Amino acid sequence: MSIPDPPSADRLSAASKRPSGPGSTFNSSATTPAATYAALRGSKDALPAARAAGEELNKALGGVVDQVTRENALALGRAVRYAAEQGHTLFADLGGGIPIQRSDSWGLPDLYAVASGVQPGLRWLLVDSDELAILYGRALVGRNPDVHVEWEDLRQPAKVLHLLDLHLGVKQKIVCVLGAVLHFMTDRQAATLVSALYEHLVPGSLIFATHVTRTGLPPEMAERGKEVYERLNGVEIHLRTEEEITAMAGPFEIKPPGVVRTIDFMPPQEGPAPEEAPHFLMWMAERLPDETGAQPPAERSV
Ligand SMILES: C[S@@+](CC[C@H](N)C(=O)[O-])C[C@H]1O[C@@H](n2cnc3c(N)ncnc32)[C@H](O)[C@@H]1O
Repeated sequence: MSIPDPPSADRLSAASKRPSGPGSTFNSSATTPAATYAALRGSKDALPAARAAGEELNKALGGVVDQVTRENALALGRAVRYAAEQGHTLFADLGGGIPIQRSDSWGLPDLYAVASGVQPGLRWLLVDSDELAILYGRALVGRNPDVHVEWEDLRQPAKVLHLLDLHLGVKQKIVCVLGAVLHFMTDRQAATLVSALYEHLVPGSLIFATHVTRTGLPPEMAERGKEVYERLNGVEIHLRTEEEITAMAGPFEIKPPGVVRTIDFMPPQEGPAPEEAPHFLMWMAERLPDETGAQPPAERSV
């Protein structure tokens, strides 16, 4: 599919009649992680509350948030391109967020557009618990039978697994993208999701995860960022250390390049990125066959 036209008012209205999440939580005067993130990427349809949140976050953190968002989008784009080049055709973008439409303010397209540019005919499932993400996603997708946009809460893994089976097929190799979403979950919720995926996915399946980190951040900056983000978005965010983020891969085998800054994940150019570059942390992990015996996380080198 080529990148679709932005949704018209008619398509948005039609999409709004399709079922999304239980009840209506949409409130245009408040923002959400999905809306704030889309505003940071420069979505032209961002609501004023989301734009204001992005600006306030950048102000509080000296512009770092824009840079981190860009690096996250770049790194995830490199990840799905890599997976598509390896022949993967089934993708689940879990906590996929609001589609940007064509490209963001840095010229970076949505992940679906990146992967389908490499591997035509792939199947894509976007799951999110944000109503606006579902509304936009469904309006953009239109009648494309290869792309599915579903409301679900990742804290209900059994329901997510059902969606994988329904839209991507049973016992298929799947690439799961967990972009900047695990940090909205407690340790227990994230571990439950990851181990459910491990039990469900067949060997050769991949997970890519990006995660906000406190490692490398001055503590007062980390705390200020957390406080401002939570106040503006009305959610709890978990700033984890590199060690904690590494452990979140659970039984999956972390593959090269290991747990790295997004800026260092399959960088297009040789040469080290600046030490002080702001970043999320990122890993790519594979579901190995059971008999291979993945090392427990504590023994794995970072
Ligand atoms: C910061 S955005 C990242 C969007 C996209 N994954 C990316 O990295 O470009 C986080 C997304 O995760 C979604 N999210 C957070 N908690 C979730 C949950 N429990 N279930 C499903 N989606 C969730 C939010 O609604 C939002 O769209």
